[in-house]
Amino acid sequence: MRAAITAVGGYVPERVVTNKDLEKLVDTSDEWIQSRTGIKERRIMEDGTATSDICVEAIKQILVKRNITAEEIDLIIVATVTPDLVFPATGNIVSDKTGAINAWSFDIGAACSGFLYALETGSKFIECGKHKKVIVCGADKMSSIINYEDRNTCIIFGDGGGAVLLEPTEDDSVGIMDSILKSDGSGREFLHQKAGGSLKPASHETIDAREHAVFQEGKTVFKFAVTNMADVSREIMDRNNLSGEDIDYLCAHQANLRIIDATAKRMELDDDKVLINIQKYGNTTAGTIPLLFSDFEKRFKKGDNIVLAAFGGGFTWGATYLKWAYNPET
Ligand code: UT7
Repeated sequence: MRAAITAVGGYVPERVVTNKDLEKLVDTSDEWIQSRTGIKERRIMEDGTATSDICVEAIKQILVKRNITAEEIDLIIVATVTPDLVFPATGNIVSDKTGAINAWSFDIGAACSGFLYALETGSKFIECGKHKKVIVCGADKMSSIINYEDRNTCIIFGDGGGAVLLEPTEDDSVGIMDSILKSDGSGREFLHQKAGGSLKPASHETIDAREHAVFQEGKTVFKFAVTNMADVSREIMDRNNLSGEDIDYLCAHQANLRIIDATAKRMELDDDKVLINIQKYGNTTAGTIPLLFSDFEKRFKKGDNIVLAAFGGGFTWGATYLKWAYNPET
């Protein structure tokens, strides 16, 4: 028995922040941002809203599409680096807000690879026969941990995310076929949030030093991301005897258009197979892959070979190979 994605949902807030808007905050330009990253604009949530709200909106869409109730959900997993609170888990808050009273829930923190980690975890609960309906969310309100005076990071990130429903399938031709996940914690020095954890709790000093925001050494992270995302994508292709021609779509973490292009090249994919929405949303961390699903779902057909790939803080990275399980709604 395999796990298959049987419905998807996605959400971004209304408020658009363009590159021109950021030109007013830091020394940057629309031209620099577009040519270095591919990003034109990103969405930013209002104060008083949180990551759980992204998940709730996405889950509502799934319940309608599959015509099921929240009570039928067995498990909710939320991948995020911007939980509503340090504890309890955002998953607990999402299950309360959606009325998923029979679900247990927890969070996974694997930064930009979080959705792939959560998808793998959720699919195992289906494969072993324990659960019938698992919701996997990937969502981040990155604006809550961005210093809008730091041009190295504020141009990259945005808010948003989505969710998928996993259900068991007896149909051998569809479902989550394989995944390769990796981590190397020695990469943490290049991408992290300095304060707010048990190592350095919040204090006046940490606030004054802006240590509750993302710190990234972009060039180093870029080098690791290009190599590792391409390598792991090639590894999953080889392990499943897939050529570039066999693959219908690449859904890669949207961190930088140049990283996605390098991965697609290594996979020998034509441009029309590489799904891109970074220009609209920027990097939404755990949210990028479910947001690709919700934007491009109507293109997918039952049996399509899709490769998911991600790289992020940790370092964490990985690739998942799946065969799409349903035809678009007509
Ligand atoms: O999703 C999680 C994983 N994260 C990633 O995968 C991100 C990986 N890294 C990147 O995507 C890229 O490294 C960035 C987009 C962050 C930066 O692009 P880059 O081509 O690596 O630029 P750089 O950091 O090497 O900076 C080049 C120049 C520097 O100036 P000098 O030293 O050459 O005079 C920077 O100070 O560009 C400058 N710069 C900027 N200029 C205008 C850096 N940020 C900006 C900016 N606007 N926003």
